Amino acid sequence: MSHSHPKTRFEPTRIAPETFLVHDHHGEGTAPVSVALNTMVIRAAEPVVVDTGMMENREQYLADVFSLVEPDDVAWVYISHDDVDHTGNLNALMSLCPNATLVINWFMHERMGASLDVPMHRWRWMQDGDTLDVGDRTLHLVRPPVFDSPTTRGLYDPTTGVYWGSDSFASPMATPARHVSELDQRDWVGGIHTFARYVSPWLELVDDARFQRTVDRIEALRPRVLVGCHTPVIDGPFVAPALIAARQAPTATVPAQPDQSVLDALQAALDPAA
Ligand SMILES: [Fe+2]
Ligand SMILES: [Fe+2]
Repeated sequence: MSHSHPKTRFEPTRIAPETFLVHDHHGEGTAPVSVALNTMVIRAAEPVVVDTGMMENREQYLADVFSLVEPDDVAWVYISHDDVDHTGNLNALMSLCPNATLVINWFMHERMGASLDVPMHRWRWMQDGDTLDVGDRTLHLVRPPVFDSPTTRGLYDPTTGVYWGSDSFASPMATPARHVSELDQRDWVGGIHTFARYVSPWLELVDDARFQRTVDRIEALRPRVLVGCHTPVIDGPFVAPALIAARQAPTATVPAQPDQSVLDALQAALDPAA
């Protein structure tokens, strides 16, 4: 795949006091849409790094994180779930941050196997419903409504109203964006439906009333900012429509995923001799 298109560069975005979204994205110039690959830094009394990005972006990821917090000061590395776009720099970050404790859970360690290369004495296992004291605030682990790994827990900071939804509230972007206000608003809502159904096809199977209670749980936090790995920043007046779009995801009509005929066309375009 060609990477001749220069990658749009976003410096970290301050989303709340001492709270920053660290940007990356995938697909620009090579796919019809881009997908954000964000992570977060909370400069609490005990600083927290939330998710660790893609291995392919390691150099920029580490530079961005360490532009916000010194390696020795990182106290917590919080992993929302064990997918490669959230764990790509986990081992590297933990080896560069000697004072950090890794917040995972039992099933993450089971699923990651030997790819988790951090000694057990540096782990902490925490589940949905648990709280993490980081010195000047207590963070709440809250499972988001949409997820593609059974290990998923979001993270809510009641002092700023920032909720990290992991793979929830995600949408593709026509072009890389910092904030959902930059997206065509109909594309954004449709993109939340589509992304949710692609990462969580089981949404079609759920009892809708029970699903709505999972969104109620997030709404009850009264989040001021919704962030996650795969969405530009959602804040202010954009929070309510994002929650509504999440509520609609199980029953919305979404486009089919590209199939073999699309791959045939891609292969033919790349190889004119075929
Ligand atoms: Fe995931
Ligand atoms: Fe993800």
